[in-house]
Amino acid sequence: MQEQALQDIAAASTLEALQQVKTKYVGKSGLVTRELGSLGKLPPEERKARGAEINAVRAALDAALTEREAVLRRAALDARLASEAIDVTLPGLSLPAGGLHPITRVYDDLIEIFTKLGYDAVEGPEVEDEHHNFEALNVPWYHPARDLQDTFWLQDGRLLRTHTSPMQVRYMVDHTPPLKIVARGKVYRYEATDATHEAMFHQLEGLVVGDGIRMSDLKGTVAEMARGLFGGSARVRFQPSYYPFTEPGADFAVWWENPRGESKWLELGGCGMVHPNVFKAVDDLREAAGKERIYEGKTGFAFGLGPERIAMLKYGIPDIRYFYANDPKVIGQFRGELG
Ligand code: DAH
Repeated sequence: MQEQALQDIAAASTLEALQQVKTKYVGKSGLVTRELGSLGKLPPEERKARGAEINAVRAALDAALTEREAVLRRAALDARLASEAIDVTLPGLSLPAGGLHPITRVYDDLIEIFTKLGYDAVEGPEVEDEHHNFEALNVPWYHPARDLQDTFWLQDGRLLRTHTSPMQVRYMVDHTPPLKIVARGKVYRYEATDATHEAMFHQLEGLVVGDGIRMSDLKGTVAEMARGLFGGSARVRFQPSYYPFTEPGADFAVWWENPRGESKWLELGGCGMVHPNVFKAVDDLREAAGKERIYEGKTGFAFGLGPERIAMLKYGIPDIRYFYANDPKVIGQFRGELG
């Protein structure tokens, strides 16, 4: 029995199997235990020798069980450690690289073009007051653009700027001509959204002020911008238009030979010669701030355009809402290359 038991112990390959062997031989009703229990049935003179014999078997099995258990525990631990081990030679998981948003890319292109032309790039507040957003830009109280329908008003009487043109006023109040600036930023209009309209969108405002600035300077600048954006074959078109802060005012469009064969006139923005009333309003603000009146008699041009329109054309994005829905299927296409 001892021999068989020792074989069973050696053959137990798991702790559970070993436990079964243990129960079979030395458990409460195990074979060895039963032998011990039956000692009482023997004649008294045989009991001692038989008892010593069984106890020796029991001791041998206990020792073998203890030893085997230690071996199996060690093996189980090793297996667990092996399963938890980290293979430091495996290549790491790479994080997807970010990329620049298409609107940011268009802005960067535009600002690079204008920086080369000597413009300063500036930024200003999205929360504006009525005076800078409308009044000082010669937009009278009865102008439809001031309709409650179009403007997000704040409870304190301020508003979310409806265009970047108030930056013209802010910059002129603080600076002395000659000056050339572009101002980028978000603008807001309270309107229903569709494929070409969003309640929040972007603009780039340009302003040049000096002496003897002419409409031809404006046209040359817009043409230069169009060539910078769309290449040497880009052509520009100006049509008379009306903006309260310009006189004369115009809308401009760019003809771009699109590689996808969708070439057409792209209405890009508005422009014009700075209205004398804007210069006057700037001087009034300067005077109120204790500064000199220096803008009356100056000349200048201004323009405003929307980078969304350029990005839609340039990247073939059919709906302005894609820019801000943050759908990785759209924005994810701009991952990786930074520029
Ligand atoms: N602020 C105008 C708009 O949001 C765009 C604009 C038109 C800006 C003519 C100008 C300009 O600077 O001269 O529709």
